Amino acid sequence: MNDNFVSKASQWDSPDKIKMTQKFLSEMLLHVNPQSSWKALELGAGTGLVGLQIEPLVSKVVMVDTSESMLEVLKQKLHSNSKVDVIHGEVFNYKQQDIDFVFSAMAFHHLPDVEKTLLHLATITKPGAWIVVGDLVTEDGSYHHFDPVPYCGFDTDILSKQFVKAGFDVKSVKIYNVITRKTDEKTTNYEQFMLIAKRL
Ligand SMILES: C[S@@+](CC[C@H](N)C(=O)[O-])C[C@H]1O[C@@H](n2cnc3c(N)ncnc32)[C@H](O)[C@@H]1O
Repeated sequence: MNDNFVSKASQWDSPDKIKMTQKFLSEMLLHVNPQSSWKALELGAGTGLVGLQIEPLVSKVVMVDTSESMLEVLKQKLHSNSKVDVIHGEVFNYKQQDIDFVFSAMAFHHLPDVEKTLLHLATITKPGAWIVVGDLVTEDGSYHHFDPVPYCGFDTDILSKQFVKAGFDVKSVKIYNVITRKTDEKTTNYEQFMLIAKRL
């Protein structure tokens, strides 16, 4: 399995990334009220910047990621009585149908096949489960200029239709943050959307 985050993992928890994940978390918690009985799953958990803040609110967080190096940083933060289960690999390896809440921050554009992933998420979630995805709106490819990814962001209308096709009811889609990058030549704004849906 390719690990594209080897050179980034140890420096991942930078003030910028922490700020970005805080924005995701505050927006998500305006709409979803995690319950202490819930089993949550984070897709593309990375070093746990989001998931470790959800952990105290629920009974379990399954943190899934394909990068061993990112998960190594995460594991160093876990306590012996942690409510986190770590899965190194694709979410397809998780097969129980017991998830109440799926969340994912800035990982969807890395997935090889979003439609296939959504169909799988529908099979591991309980009816009524929440799913929250935060990612980039369609961009010109410059966000990952040196490290191309499967999706240069998402057209949220198309993504919403894919959620519906997979068996989710899309509750809301909104732009919750804008990332600004400046070079000598130009300033580029990258919008981040949050899509919130419920499993039918
Ligand atoms: C941009 S990072 C975001 C990490 C974390 N969610 C955060 O906001 O700090 C994307 C993460 O998705 C993971 N990832 C990439 N492809 C994946 C896949 N197919 N399944 C699960 N995780 C994946 C990467 O290894 C990486 O940790």
